[in-house]
Amino acid sequence: MTKIITIDGPSGSGKGTVSRLIASKLSFNYLDSGALYRALSVSSARHGVNLRNIKGLVDLVEHMDVRFEMDDGNFQMFLDEINVSDEMRTEDAGVRASKIAFYPEIRESLLKRQRKFAFGVGLVADGRDMGTVVFPEADLKIYLTASIEERAQRRYKELIDKGEDVSLRALAKQVRDRDARDMNREVSPLVAADDAVTIDTSEMTVARVLNSIFELVHAKRLI
Ligand code: DC
Repeated sequence: MTKIITIDGPSGSGKGTVSRLIASKLSFNYLDSGALYRALSVSSARHGVNLRNIKGLVDLVEHMDVRFEMDDGNFQMFLDEINVSDEMRTEDAGVRASKIAFYPEIRESLLKRQRKFAFGVGLVADGRDMGTVVFPEADLKIYLTASIEERAQRRYKELIDKGEDVSLRALAKQVRDRDARDMNREVSPLVAADDAVTIDTSEMTVARVLNSIFELVHAKRLI
């Protein structure tokens, strides 16, 4: 049986970094479910499908040729064999992804693709509803969170390091708006599963977060 670890949480909680490191350390598969929503957002922009055209978006999901690669710790995404890793990481792609993630038909159409990642020894699945909806039977469920200020600050640093001109205040507003959309939607809202362990990473280094999760991995005898 494939062992499943789910890591859910809001954007900027550190779940992407932490999930990739755990998957690599345990030699488990890795599912970045947000990247699938982002792939759909990039694909819809490329094919000129309006974000309110649910049927058009569901059709896109059915035909979407998306592939992920881990290249030296770097997560790469290919859409129709074109590397769209930079495009999918923009704030705009994230906001569009969050808007389409609102629709139950779209969430349903992405379910099967997400569950296909559960094969082999193990899977680390990162997202918003991994522990609650996609893999409710997971062996270990983590909910990572951090204060809005800390998450905006992390994003600010990331963008400034990339040479982008951004304002911390505008980013804090974006984080707040995205939280509100992700937490308040009717279907699969962002919420910790009842049996998830919550870790607040606001004051923690990545190494400390990893240690805490590995303790849980050992306690559950997942390795
Ligand atoms: O994790 P991320 O920032 O790449 O995700 C982008 C958006 O996709 C997020 O704001 C909401 C949506 N999403 C979702 O609704 N459910 C998931 N499991 C993952 C992402």
